[in-house]
Amino acid sequence: MSLPVHHGDTLPPQEVIDLFKRTFSHELYEDLANVRELVQKVKSDLYNRDYTAAFDDNAKRVAYCCRWSPARAVAYTSLFAQLEPINQVVRCQLQGGDQRVLCVGGGAGGELVALASLFTPSRHVRTPSNEGLQIHLVDIYDWTNVVSRLQDQINTNWLYNGQSRFCNMEFTSNDILKMDPGQLQLNQLNLITLLFTTNELFSQDKSGSIKFLQSLTTHCQRGCLLLITESAGSYSHITVGSKKFPIQFLIDTVLLGKRGQDNHGNWTLVDQSDSIWYRGDPDMDYPLKLENMRCFYRLYRKL
Ligand SMILES: C[S@@+](CC[C@H](N)C(=O)[O-])C[C@H]1O[C@@H](n2cnc3c(N)ncnc32)[C@H](O)[C@@H]1O
Repeated sequence: MSLPVHHGDTLPPQEVIDLFKRTFSHELYEDLANVRELVQKVKSDLYNRDYTAAFDDNAKRVAYCCRWSPARAVAYTSLFAQLEPINQVVRCQLQGGDQRVLCVGGGAGGELVALASLFTPSRHVRTPSNEGLQIHLVDIYDWTNVVSRLQDQINTNWLYNGQSRFCNMEFTSNDILKMDPGQLQLNQLNLITLLFTTNELFSQDKSGSIKFLQSLTTHCQRGCLLLITESAGSYSHITVGSKKFPIQFLIDTVLLGKRGQDNHGNWTLVDQSDSIWYRGDPDMDYPLKLENMRCFYRLYRKL
């Protein structure tokens, strides 16, 4: 299965990439050698699973964003647009006031730019809705500089003419496993994303991660969507006791209940794929590599 290179509801992929080029023009066009060097350091820190070393300073976070987030943003743009329930939330096509989105592990900006690139065209129609998008990014590292620079460019280049007031972004630097439901305003959310973050949460604290998913069940409102993506295949296997199995089985068990038992009813699985590709246009103009993305995804809705 493949996602479309460009979904018609969104800005074109090159415009998404250009937003990163503009935001980080100094780093990408005047200091590229330094960015490449930092990317190598981040790569080796990540390989050693030393996340603190990888993300302990702003220059490294900017380098990470320049290298990986543009390709992610383009792929997520297509995925969000393709999944109809998410498309409707992000383009504010639903009744009931502002739409609220929580992006867990969204500090590197890919989700923010993808949401904005689907939201923006919906503001340029003749009678845009009065509802807006409230985006809350939570990440354990402090990505304030990266996401505020991206948000500034979104406001000036995409959401001009007063439309930027309809797209608010708030960033919180905190461990999601230690935050309480009130801080996260779980009972008001329309969409939660956990993109390439669930594995990291489970590797930090398995029972804390299960408790976090359970707290979503307890506090989220009816209709709230939850999107999870992770690498397809064995990289996303998890060991519990002596058994190893795909992480999505564990997530399904927590959210949907055990198969064959009668306790189904907290969430329903709306859409899913065990392996989907986003293959970008190879002619895209960007000074660093843009990788294709392969993942599994699961989209749940709270009942
Ligand atoms: C592999 S990156 C994925 C980044 C982004 N979501 C994407 O798909 O491009 C995982 C992200 O989760 C964040 N993260 C890891 N553990 C976390 C925690 N306990 N609470 C909040 N964020 C966390 C990391 O800092 C990192 O930004």
